Amino acid sequence: MASLRTFLAALVIVAVAFDPSSVNAKFSKSMSFYWGAGNSSILGEGDDLQLVLDRKSGSGVKSKRAFLFGSFQVLLKLVPGNSAGTVTTYYVSSSGERHDEIDFEFLGNTSGQPYTIHTNIYTQGNGTREQQFRPWFDPTADYHNYTIHWNPSEVVWYIDNVPIRVFRNYNKEGIAYPDKQGMRAYSSLWNADNWATQGGRVKIDWTVAPFIARYRNFRARACKWDGPVSINQCASNTPANWWTAPAYSKLSSAQLGKMKWVRDNYMIYNYCADTKRFKGQVPPECFKAQF
Ligand SMILES: *[C@@H]1O[C@H](CO)[C@@H](O)[C@H](O)[C@H]1NC(C)=O
Ligand SMILES: *[C@@H]1O[C@H](CO)[C@@H](O)[C@H](O)[C@H]1NC(C)=O
Ligand SMILES: *[C@@H]1O[C@H](CO)[C@@H](O)[C@H](O)[C@H]1NC(C)=O
Ligand SMILES: *[C@@H]1O[C@H](CO)[C@@H](O)[C@H](O)[C@H]1NC(C)=O
Repeated sequence: MASLRTFLAALVIVAVAFDPSSVNAKFSKSMSFYWGAGNSSILGEGDDLQLVLDRKSGSGVKSKRAFLFGSFQVLLKLVPGNSAGTVTTYYVSSSGERHDEIDFEFLGNTSGQPYTIHTNIYTQGNGTREQQFRPWFDPTADYHNYTIHWNPSEVVWYIDNVPIRVFRNYNKEGIAYPDKQGMRAYSSLWNADNWATQGGRVKIDWTVAPFIARYRNFRARACKWDGPVSINQCASNTPANWWTAPAYSKLSSAQLGKMKWVRDNYMIYNYCADTKRFKGQVPPECFKAQF
């Protein structure tokens, strides 16, 4: 029995070592603190992370390398109880003025009131594409899987394998798509009580600090990026260019059904419906199929 277990463990190690498309993704190997390391920590075998916000500071980590296309998974358990004024983030972003970025942000709330799951995408420095959702579960009771899937055809935001939003590549029709700049993965926890909760009306209650967000199993199954390269060059860095495979470029009808369920029942803001904000001219991708 023991030898079988040893054998299986060895198999797992071999499989991990030979997976060309993923970095060794433990937080301890693949990420580092860029802000507020003081009270935050990487725990366990290096696969757990806890970000802390107290009166002195929030905190954040980022991946050591950049990627062009991939699937960025993290399991995340949000700040419980009175989290009003806090924002927890998980996103990928390039740098510079005309940067690209794909976001998950979690806006805290007073005890018993629901979090807001905020999503956005920036292309060439331009965001203004927010969509917000209510969780259909308690995001503070347990870990949930938040995955940003980004390939040459589309970006998909997933929660527990349910796609909640798609941004397709309509570059040929003049709509900017993030396909030229490498992005790093980031997570942070910060004080945003000037706007986050009920429009900034509810402030952080420091008497219940420290606020702690717990993360585990960050996995960047992604194409490593070391500077400007074409899509094909990047794909050829990794023999198994699974992210361009049809299965990852088109959602199944079962997935589409789940996405519709979330959007029909849990979407609370959609920039495409905000004609007032855009003075009647919502962005062009709003008229394109997004699935
Ligand atoms: C954060 O670190 C400071 C300095 O080490 C310490 O005084 C404080 O108690 C810590 N806070 C928490 C919540 O651990
Ligand atoms: C997390 O979700 C992504 C997207 O659905 C999926 O590929 C991945 O296998 C999931 N991870 C876990 C641990 O369930
Ligand atoms: C907090 O709860 C209130 C009341 O249910 C709700 O209006 C608000 O959208 C929730 N989320 C945030 C981030 O304020
Ligand atoms: C950003 O995108 C919005 C929506 O498409 C557009 O109205 C705005 O002019 C763009 N801003 C810039 C600086 O390109």
